[in-house]
Amino acid sequence: MAESITIEKSAPKAVKYEQLLPQIKALVGEDTHAIAIMANVSAALHSAFGYLWTGFYTVEGDQLILGPFQGPVACMRIRIGKGVSGAVLAGGETIVVPDVDKFPGHIACSSDSRSEIVVPIKNSQGKICAVLDVDSIQLATFDETDKKYLEILCGWLGDKIF
Ligand code: SME
Repeated sequence: MAESITIEKSAPKAVKYEQLLPQIKALVGEDTHAIAIMANVSAALHSAFGYLWTGFYTVEGDQLILGPFQGPVACMRIRIGKGVSGAVLAGGETIVVPDVDKFPGHIACSSDSRSEIVVPIKNSQGKICAVLDVDSIQLATFDETDKKYLEILCGWLGDKIF
């Protein structure tokens, strides 16, 4: 198992993702334990990008339950359709929110959060089993580059652990 993640901190984010994704795959190796993998993936993303909050919610019934994360304490349960994460669970597609104050029903786990991206993680049957949620203290932090690479990451995670 790789023991650390090395990222060129000043590189453009596409380069950082290109550097990070193979290292995450190497770090995880043959392991398939969902909690262990989500814990290390949240740590790897968080240390690479330094956003406010980086973590997972897993699906139980019609709720999202807080999973492994890095950052401030967060809401433990989110109902389907509520907030950005609940909207992703209901709609099945990634949502990029440039300004959380303009997203109806946004759940402010932290008042420092200004923008966010939430990506669904689906199993091989296409059922959403978890979401990846990343929050930033700055407006409009996330764009098509984050969507592209985080969807690649979440596609791999869905195949691997759910
Ligand atoms: N803001 C999210 C809630 C989760 S936290 O930010 C960690 C939302 O509206 O779904």
